[in-house]
Amino acid sequence: VLDAAFGGSAGGDGAGGTTIAGVAEAIRTYQPRQVILTARGTSDHAALYAAYLTEIRLGIPAGLASPSAITVYGARPAMDGCLVVGVSQSGGSPDLAEVLRVAREQGALTLAVTNAPDSPLAMTAAHHIDICAGHERAVAATKTYTAQLLSLLLLVEAVREPGSVPEGLRRLPDLARTTLDDPTAVELANRYRFADRLVTTGRGYAYPTAREAALKLLETSYLAALAYSGADLLHGPLALADPDVPVLAVVGSGPGGQSMQGVLERLGARGADLVVIGPVLPRSSGASTDGVRAVARLATPDVDERLAPMLDILPLQRLALAVAKARGVDPDAPRGLAKVTSTL
Ligand code: F6R
Repeated sequence: VLDAAFGGSAGGDGAGGTTIAGVAEAIRTYQPRQVILTARGTSDHAALYAAYLTEIRLGIPAGLASPSAITVYGARPAMDGCLVVGVSQSGGSPDLAEVLRVAREQGALTLAVTNAPDSPLAMTAAHHIDICAGHERAVAATKTYTAQLLSLLLLVEAVREPGSVPEGLRRLPDLARTTLDDPTAVELANRYRFADRLVTTGRGYAYPTAREAALKLLETSYLAALAYSGADLLHGPLALADPDVPVLAVVGSGPGGQSMQGVLERLGARGADLVVIGPVLPRSSGASTDGVRAVARLATPDVDERLAPMLDILPLQRLALAVAKARGVDPDAPRGLAKVTSTL
């Protein structure tokens, strides 16, 4: 992805930039008033991460589109002056291509971020970024999710400051290896073998991780996994938390993690069966998880909050895999999911 960012080639219809740096330059020139992202499933979680990045790092309002407004209701929201981004590993779902086609017709700047340069989505957009993940064999997307996060991070940072690579990024492969070496996630699977409900939570950059973890557990292990931002959890769904319902909380050392402190306390007060995902943080830090009573910790390295989603998802993917195996179901043949799902 780093090669593609600054030297390799990317597709699109040839009208625009062909590297992350080139696309970033086109975005800087266009100066979008808003960024609209469109995606499904796992890719939607990568898009959500990009929305946080766009608002926090670029100060541009960002949000997720509702494809059905365009494809089912025939709406034509005014998208001129907007950057419209389709995120999809396959680039194959017709609704996303249709959103980009309409956006282009309306004068928006369009971008596809996919693992398939020849896909309909890539062909429809003015610009395309190839996430360069290689063939994704798993039906439930895993490595393409990481590559989407990385590509979107590089893009946003390049829009903010041409040529910049976030500090610590090059250490990620080693840190990912260390994270994957930890057997705790696999050990934890036995505890949740018979669980039928589960809640995941996180805030800011960690919220897409909570959503993606819930999706992976749901689609491969068939347990009802609900994801809430730490804030939304306190607006009612906290009622679900009790000693019989596992809660997986993603808590880092940055502002997102710090904002989870009150949530962790409320979960503790309800005697929740709590698992904390993230670095072990000392009591002296603003986001201490040291004093929290948790049944387990899935420890991940303490890195910049923007990089953490690429590491925090790893033990959660492993947990989903191990729970599926412990339940005797095949995570490579999820009963509700195809490699490419077509919706309109
Ligand atoms: C989840 C999963 C699906 C896809 C969704 C979108 O593991 O694989 O939810 O993420 O079908 O697919 P793409 O990214 O190909 O548009």
